[in-house]
Amino acid sequence: MDRPVHLTNIFDPVSTPAQAILELSWLVLWICAGIFVIVVGLLTYILIRFRRRRIDTEEPPQVYGSNQIELAWTVLPVLTVVVLFLVTTRTIRAVQNVVPSPDALQVTIVGHQWWWEIRYPTQGIVTANELHVPVSDRARPQATFLRLESVDVVHSFWVPRLAGKIDVVPNRTNTMWIEPFEAGLYLGQCAEYCGTQHANMLLRVVVHTRDDFERWVATQQQPPVRDPAVQAGRDLFQAIACVNCHTVRETLASGTFGPDLSHLMSRATLGAGVVDNTLPNLRAWMQNPQHLKPGNLMPDMKLTPQEMEHIVAYLATLK
Ligand code: CUA
Repeated sequence: MDRPVHLTNIFDPVSTPAQAILELSWLVLWICAGIFVIVVGLLTYILIRFRRRRIDTEEPPQVYGSNQIELAWTVLPVLTVVVLFLVTTRTIRAVQNVVPSPDALQVTIVGHQWWWEIRYPTQGIVTANELHVPVSDRARPQATFLRLESVDVVHSFWVPRLAGKIDVVPNRTNTMWIEPFEAGLYLGQCAEYCGTQHANMLLRVVVHTRDDFERWVATQQQPPVRDPAVQAGRDLFQAIACVNCHTVRETLASGTFGPDLSHLMSRATLGAGVVDNTLPNLRAWMQNPQHLKPGNLMPDMKLTPQEMEHIVAYLATLK
């Protein structure tokens, strides 16, 4: 790609809510810029025009009260605030009061310290840190509706090019929607301080064409690869504590504290965006999870080098 890609630019929206918010922001910015120019202009003029001069010998005329001026500086600001209030309300309503159509894609996003669990209840898919959605076009609008929940502390879901920011609060379900009109990769970030690794609670949104999205869904719905060559690793994985926190479908592993690993290798990063999901990084992560992402909840499993190789070889098959 030739042109630079702005993965997180709020001034370059590619989704309906982000577009509406940007239009409102420009209007507010222009109104405020106008006020700034008028105030600073008048102030500068007065400072220069009425500065103290050597020839000044007596006080200037003293003015007590002016109905015109007082009315002007009361009415104009009130009108300005009313306009700002009305346009803001209009945008908030346009963004919030959208009811999902029956065929809209529904995704549940659960904030964890420090990663995102992403569930597609209708499709039966569970993944992590990568939200995949179809693109919307004029002929076939396709919004994606998100339900946002947290299992621990307050997080905040923010993908600047797709929508505004919304808090992800324990014991509460917030909702938002996106309607991206360009396929591509958009980056997001937890935007509420949630602990040591808040800065490494990253999120990738992959917007696919229709066909690509269908393909992605079909792949994720497949049962995990069962490669006889890595049977030793698979057995070992199921025999140790990995299964308490992670799920690999159709195995004994059904934990829900950590990310679902059924299609681990289909994801681009490890540790919610800390490193690329490559074999060396996967091995480094397994050898000492606290090295790449200090404070994360995955313990060091104290495996022997040989056990480690078996498990890594097994995980590497989970495409
Ligand atoms: Cu989650 Cu900050």
